[in-house]
Amino acid sequence: MFRIRRFFSEDSDGVARVFKSWWAGENGKCVSELLRDAYFDAHGFLIAERNGEVIGFSYAYVDPRVVHRFGYRLGFLAGVFAFPKFRGTVDVELLKKSLEYLKTINALEVEVPDFPSTFGNGVTAEKDAYFYRLYRGFGFSINMHSYTMSRSLEKLKIPRWLENRNKTLTDEGIILRKAKKEDVPSLVTVEEEAFKEAYDYIPKTKKDIKKRVKEFLGWMENTILSEKSNKIIAYSDFTTEKHKNKTVGYPRIAVLPSYRGRGLGTLLFWENLKTLKEMGVTKVEINVIGVNFPAVHIYRKAGFKIDHIWYHLRKKL
Ligand SMILES: CC(C)(COP(=O)(O)OP(=O)(O)OC[C@H]1O[C@@H](n2cnc3c(N)ncnc32)[C@H](O)[C@@H]1OP(=O)(O)O)[C@@H](O)C(=O)NCCC(=O)NCCS
Repeated sequence: MFRIRRFFSEDSDGVARVFKSWWAGENGKCVSELLRDAYFDAHGFLIAERNGEVIGFSYAYVDPRVVHRFGYRLGFLAGVFAFPKFRGTVDVELLKKSLEYLKTINALEVEVPDFPSTFGNGVTAEKDAYFYRLYRGFGFSINMHSYTMSRSLEKLKIPRWLENRNKTLTDEGIILRKAKKEDVPSLVTVEEEAFKEAYDYIPKTKKDIKKRVKEFLGWMENTILSEKSNKIIAYSDFTTEKHKNKTVGYPRIAVLPSYRGRGLGTLLFWENLKTLKEMGVTKVEINVIGVNFPAVHIYRKAGFKIDHIWYHLRKKL
């Protein structure tokens, strides 16, 4: 027997344990970040409890920033989680209750975000076929998809055409250089401009920007940028993560809309692949929305293969 109730802050460790049973990389950070979020909705955070122990949880909410951007009440169900032995019972009940909650707060539709979103267990056909079936059984359908792509750097060969591309851009007065501390506020602005049309864009507050500046400073060493007439127009950076005895690199690229389609994104991306190889990183991984055709093209051209297809699911309420 189990019961479903609302969340209390004392549940945090239990929630982290459940989350860890699904994703081994969890260290409690996800939970604490969610609780600190200015838009955290405690009523949508449901706990499944059995003999005083947290055995599952779910998180459903409406984000006012998304309502503002989309113009209607799109709700989110950022995951339904339960210890594996309670699959099919606890998670089913959590899912039912979450949908009921979203209806009470007048959400018109609900989306399950993909995995890279905090707390999402949006599903892959390969890895999480169980979740896929669970949501489909509740009437969700596929709204969008994204890919996890990767390649090994062991046999990375720098293509000849890259040099020509570099020369063409130099002739146009575009230079490439390593980022400096003073560049960070401009890099955050370029990021904001570059990702503005992205589907999951949420306008940033002053506080978000301050936090982002701090994050950028953390990986500034790994940032290469493009400049024209002293204005930063594009950059590529990367983070790295240790997985057992291997380090994996996660690069990103951002080019201001008016400078796209000239080869800048490709050039910057390759610069970081070279740097990662020099650092001894053997594998590079990327998450990309399926309809981001230029990005997918750049990655495929650089030898990346698709490892997982993540489905973003939606349902009308
Ligand atoms: C993705 C992004 C970095 C690309 O920058 P860019 O400077 O325009 O990229 P490039 O000009 O080097 O390369 C774009 C490639 O995509 C190709 N491309 C463009 N539109 C395409 C489409 N609809 N379908 C397929 N390929 C397409 C171009 O032909 C070019 O390939 P080529 O060099 O073989 O001709 C840029 O669009 C951006 O900043 N987007 C927002 C941020 C983002 O999505 N970053 C990636 C997150 S994972």
